[in-house]
Amino acid sequence: MFGGTLALVRLLPAVSRRKTAVFAGAVLIAAAAPVAITVLTGLLIGSIPATVRSGFDSGPGRHTVHLLAAVAALILLQRALTPIMLALATTLGRGVDRHLQERVMAAVGAPTGVAHLEDPDVLDRIRIARGLGMGNRRPSRAVEGLAHLVPSWLQALGGAAVLIGFHWWLGLAWLVAWPVLLFYLQREYVRVGQVVYRQSQPLRRAEYLRDLALTAPAAKELRLWGMLDWLLDRFDAAWLAAMQPVWRARRPRRRVVFGTAGVVLVINVASYSLLAWAAVRGHASLAALAVYTQALAQANGYTAFDDDNAELSFASATVPNVVGLEHKLQAPPAIVAAKQPEDSPHHNIRYENVTFRYPGAHRDALSGLNLDITAGKSLAIVGDNGAGKTSLVKLLCRLYEPTGGRLTVDGGNLTGLDPTAWQRRIAVLFQDFARYHLSVRDNIGLGAPELAHDEQLLEKAADKAGVGELIASLPNGWDTVLSREYAGGTDLSGGQWQRIGLARAFFAVEGGARILILDEPTAALDVRAEAELYDRFLELTAGLTTVLISHRFSTVRRAERIVVLADGTIAEDGTHDELVAQGGRYARMFALQAARFVEAAGNA
Ligand SMILES: Nc1ncnc2c1ncn2[C@@H]1O[C@H](COP(=O)(O)OP(=O)(O)O)[C@@H](O)[C@H]1O
Ligand SMILES: [Mg+2]
Repeated sequence: MFGGTLALVRLLPAVSRRKTAVFAGAVLIAAAAPVAITVLTGLLIGSIPATVRSGFDSGPGRHTVHLLAAVAALILLQRALTPIMLALATTLGRGVDRHLQERVMAAVGAPTGVAHLEDPDVLDRIRIARGLGMGNRRPSRAVEGLAHLVPSWLQALGGAAVLIGFHWWLGLAWLVAWPVLLFYLQREYVRVGQVVYRQSQPLRRAEYLRDLALTAPAAKELRLWGMLDWLLDRFDAAWLAAMQPVWRARRPRRRVVFGTAGVVLVINVASYSLLAWAAVRGHASLAALAVYTQALAQANGYTAFDDDNAELSFASATVPNVVGLEHKLQAPPAIVAAKQPEDSPHHNIRYENVTFRYPGAHRDALSGLNLDITAGKSLAIVGDNGAGKTSLVKLLCRLYEPTGGRLTVDGGNLTGLDPTAWQRRIAVLFQDFARYHLSVRDNIGLGAPELAHDEQLLEKAADKAGVGELIASLPNGWDTVLSREYAGGTDLSGGQWQRIGLARAFFAVEGGARILILDEPTAALDVRAEAELYDRFLELTAGLTTVLISHRFSTVRRAERIVVLADGTIAEDGTHDELVAQGGRYARMFALQAARFVEAAGNA
């Protein structure tokens, strides 16, 4: 149940061994000092009558002075140590946050495919790991909490131990009682924390609605269609529904409240009565009374229902969550990857009776697909929206694994190849390619990060994609940040972005990719840019295995071979001329587009 706290503590040495050792030492001293001060102060008080009788120069006098010096030294030590301990907790906490964030990034980035990013459970865990939502429950808060709590707990233990000298059974009662009370109270916090985490999905929903109002993507439509009120209502309802179970759980359970309060009351009444009794009957010396009164105060001083207690259980629950995420996303035991020649594929890539269904989907995106892609040639894929074109490409990239059938490369099973090496062999411009809020240089250089410093290669890729002029016209040239969210940044039009994405794919080719995949690469380009690109299509794709997905027949006809995809399988296959002659689906689509074109030309 307190696994979170233990896991958090175990993490500290991983962040910094040295700092953890110093921190632990400081915590121990911070806990021990007050107990020692209590005992010494008691002895000090006890020594005063003798000193008053015989003066400072006597034996008892020197004893008093020594005690005084020791108490002063301990108080100074405590004063000096506390800020150091708290500062260390803050630094260690920051280290823990960074460490966990890196682990989450690594875990989420580890799988070959991307299906896990559509898995609600994984998304919940990622959300928890980011410490979003409920205030700012970062694990660092739990470390800071520890710096306050542990000394108070140890002090209470020390106080209880001192009380053993008064009545052994009373000290023992304290030693047993307070950890039990602490356990029950802390368990209440853990329970609330668990409810919060169970509510991750509804909270994600609410946060999504909130972010719609706070971020750019929906801002235009929000205004034009007057969606704001609707959005506020929806957010309100979603947030309330998500939080109500949490608020209910926050009310501590009655029996815990009354139970713990009752025990505290009984044990305190008993302790103070015994002390008063001992004083009245003269059973204890002045020094003993002073020590035990202080010790009793310390035994009472453990922190059990503070913000720190809440933080400790809420925030440290993040740690097992990260471990669980890592566990869930762990790569399956490595199959010995076949050695892959540098320049494969040599002969072909084959889809053999491939079936694919997205996780949780109700129908197949690809069904019984057979396709033989010849290495070094260009293949165009056409088909209606939703026919499965992009899915086909995702399988080739191993972003998903087929649900049936298999893919082979030069006859060997694709799953037998090292996925990372295979993915680096593919240069792809996805239909929904990423628009990085980074400099132009990074946006293109990310196609082959290890070459990103090579200006000439960058220029070459930019020229192939026809963005050389565009980059030269930007305020900071290659260093212009492509986002209005940063000072000096700029945004691009859809077509300009597409050409930046294209340049990135070409840069990946410079980095050694042998397969070029362009998924609707000209959808946002103007007619001239598209024409320029396709005039150079053969030159740009020379020597590469190219897969081109497009709706534009002007584009497609330049490919050496064309397949028509319909309902997740290959419907037609041939060159442009063959397919037109066949008079099937392709011929009809082509005729439709050509007629539109002739009509438009006629109107002009
Ligand atoms: N991530 C996804 N999860 C579930 N279904 C998807 C996903 N992506 C696409 N689909 C579905 O798979 C089918 C094929 O999609 P896709 O390959 O993108 O078609 P195309 O690229 O030919 O337009 C469609 O029915 C689509 O709704
Ligand atoms: Mg598509």
